[in-house]
Amino acid sequence: MTVEPVGFRPGLEGVPATQSAISNIDGQRGVLSYRGYRIDELAAHSSFLETAYLLIWGELPDPERLRNFQHSVQMHRRVSFRIRDMLKCFPAGGHPMDALQASAASLGLFYSNRALDDPEYISGAVVRLLAKIPTMLAAFQLIRRGQDPIQPRDDLPYASNFLYMLTEREPDPLAARIFDACLVLHAEHTLNASTFSARVTASTLTDPYAVVASAVGTLAGPLHGGANEDVLAMLEEIGSEDRVEAYLDGAIKEKRKVMGFGHREYRVKDPRATILQQLAETLFDRFGHDQMYDVARRLESVAADRLGPKGIYPNVDFYSGLVYRKLGIPTDLFTPVFAIARAAGWLAHWKEQLGANRIYRPTQIYTGYAERQWLPPESRSSDNGSPTG
Ligand SMILES: CC(C)(COP(=O)(O)OP(=O)(O)OC[C@H]1O[C@@H](n2cnc3c(N)ncnc32)[C@H](O)[C@@H]1OP(=O)(O)O)[C@@H](O)C(=O)NCCC(=O)NCCS
Repeated sequence: MTVEPVGFRPGLEGVPATQSAISNIDGQRGVLSYRGYRIDELAAHSSFLETAYLLIWGELPDPERLRNFQHSVQMHRRVSFRIRDMLKCFPAGGHPMDALQASAASLGLFYSNRALDDPEYISGAVVRLLAKIPTMLAAFQLIRRGQDPIQPRDDLPYASNFLYMLTEREPDPLAARIFDACLVLHAEHTLNASTFSARVTASTLTDPYAVVASAVGTLAGPLHGGANEDVLAMLEEIGSEDRVEAYLDGAIKEKRKVMGFGHREYRVKDPRATILQQLAETLFDRFGHDQMYDVARRLESVAADRLGPKGIYPNVDFYSGLVYRKLGIPTDLFTPVFAIARAAGWLAHWKEQLGANRIYRPTQIYTGYAERQWLPPESRSSDNGSPTG
């Protein structure tokens, strides 16, 4: 007799796996807030570091705390020559997400004196991770192009410094401001797959570098952070506005996912997509139009009829790739850039998890064999399903 699985929800859909005071999504109204502040307000007025402070410590900092936090992050931007040497050993053709995951984990080797009950250790680890992740990513980018990484600039704000390390040019202030707003928009998003991964890892009381490294690995998949790369590939494949309808009809008929659409939590357009679309338009007005934006807008409008009734609308990844491309960020750095921002959310969840920790240990519904008897190889049937036959 088969026993009906009780309470099993594939993908844990709708199952609360933690309590959290960090962010909230109203998926019916399309509202995202961090610690009670709406994302549109934060994107318009806050900076990424201020937002990171808010997420991690729960309140917006006063001017002195903000200055101190920004200063600490600036002071920890450099990475050891050993990390740069390690990055030089990585294959240039490897994906930057893998380089980022490995380098984030490697920080644990340099700062191994784990003291999870010491607030100074917590704030030190937060500062180090926020400061060094962009440096390591930019270093890998230059190294794989055959160049030496350049040192961070202590006089530049967070977003400008990253774009400077990446492009070796001080960015236009508008471009830097828009990139900073992108980081704000990507900083946190409740219990998504990578954040869940971070919390599970945190719950074992391992070090924060392992927490961030495991989350980076989870973010890399195409159903999560990796979708922003696929969106641009899809837009390029469509190529022009007049081919949008045929593409969409084909995708729906063949049950292919349209990249950058759909979200487990939203039944309306993702509020981050709305803001990113505005940022894209500002960038195009200033630095020149991108024809793929016209394809994207047409796709959004045609999809409103075809996918909208199912509650499937553009998500954060739909317009972010177009923004990043205009900022001169290579396509395979889109997801690592997402990780720079999301590190703030992961660290907030790490800290929150430590505050009320219980190790994650869900159960399973076993669907395998009942007990069987081991047989020597010569007594086994040839039809045993093993890869070698
Ligand atoms: C984000 C995502 C993984 C959420 O998935 P989910 O909540 O598990 O939803 P499901 O994949 O079960 O989809 C539910 C239904 O909507 C459809 N659907 C969901 N996203 C779709 C998309 N992007 N294009 C077309 N159909 C989609 C599914 O085909 C399914 O239809 P069915 O019930 O007729 O089979 C999913 O929407 C997706 O794969 N999107 C594309 C990748 C992407 O943009 N990811 C970035 C997320 S921020």
